[in-house]
Amino acid sequence: MAVPLYDHARIYRRRKQEIDAALARVLESGRLDWGDEVPAFEAEFAAFVGAAHAVTVNSGTGALKIALLALGIGPGDEVITVPNSDIGTVSAIHHTGAASVLVDVDPATLCMDPAAVRAAITPRTRAILPVDLYGQPSALRELIALAQAKGLAVVEDACLALGAEVEGQRVGSLADVTCFSFAPTKHLGSIGSGGACTTQDAGLAARMVRLSAYGQDRARHRSIATTGISLHHETDGLNERMDEIQAAVLRVKLPDVPESLRVRRHQAALYAAALGKLCEVPREVPGTRHAFRNYVVQIERRDALREGLSLRGIGNSLSYAPPMHLQPFYAARNPQHFPVAERSCARLLGLPIGPQLDDGQIAEVCAGFVAAAGKAE
Ligand SMILES: Cc1ncc(COP(=O)(O)O)c(C=O)c1O
Repeated sequence: MAVPLYDHARIYRRRKQEIDAALARVLESGRLDWGDEVPAFEAEFAAFVGAAHAVTVNSGTGALKIALLALGIGPGDEVITVPNSDIGTVSAIHHTGAASVLVDVDPATLCMDPAAVRAAITPRTRAILPVDLYGQPSALRELIALAQAKGLAVVEDACLALGAEVEGQRVGSLADVTCFSFAPTKHLGSIGSGGACTTQDAGLAARMVRLSAYGQDRARHRSIATTGISLHHETDGLNERMDEIQAAVLRVKLPDVPESLRVRRHQAALYAAALGKLCEVPREVPGTRHAFRNYVVQIERRDALREGLSLRGIGNSLSYAPPMHLQPFYAARNPQHFPVAERSCARLLGLPIGPQLDDGQIAEVCAGFVAAAGKAE
């Protein structure tokens, strides 16, 4: 492919020596589990996002589920979220036993519309779960104020938004819990799967640690092998822990995130300049910094354009289309209609972006796009 969407091998080669050394360090230590890499990465990640606590888990979906469970959310409760996201967002809600209540999005940002949230709150609502779509922070200040006024929690899905900012503050310390994904294609990609919850609340962090680790204290579990103490489960627990190998690799890659963000913002500016007259390009909300995990434009005749790009070897994606309420599993149970999300999902097209690409490749995408758009007329 001339311009791939992702190139994991290229990203690996940039840090090959350090990653290989990290893998060897963990393997040679013999400590694949309950070791020092996970707590060390948690401290470094919390510092990066400006949060008091980070709790690692084994996926973004797991982060959302653990956050909701730690807040005591379960059967009989409702959690408000959006239809245009990864299935992990709604399935995390459903796996707690709570019901998801979907609301439409703001056409300018494609993120949760606070007015729609206000109208959807019922006596059963326990939490608001906004998604920072493609890296654009949601209307967090407004949503947090609304949640506080109504006694609700805010669990932010920032799986696409590591490094995004609201008024100079990185996402990660604003909501009650912020959830991140370290899937390989994210800003900070593991070599498998991973995620994290960040929070300012020590009690909530401790509950998330226990829930993700069989409902028991980590230090106690760690000493079982050496001291012979017995298992001691304080809560019902899951096995959603991050492993030592992932944590060691993420520690190598974390310092590269600022450069990845710089490159993405530079590429977004190149795209906006070249394509802004042909299609609707993403607009950064004033007072925020978009993290551009995805660069997603909206255009009529999207499918023809997409075919043209694919024929030219240019990677592209339909990021989170069709929306969740139109996916067979959910549509069959609860037919619903969200005009803004549906319209955007019919027009959106994701283009390659990220530090695996150089400016020449971005220019190639732009030229391919212009040619394909001419043909699609
Ligand atoms: C917005 C959003 N939420 C949740 C997830 C789930 O993360 P994971 O794949 O790590 O479980 C993703 C993954 O792509 C995502 O984009």
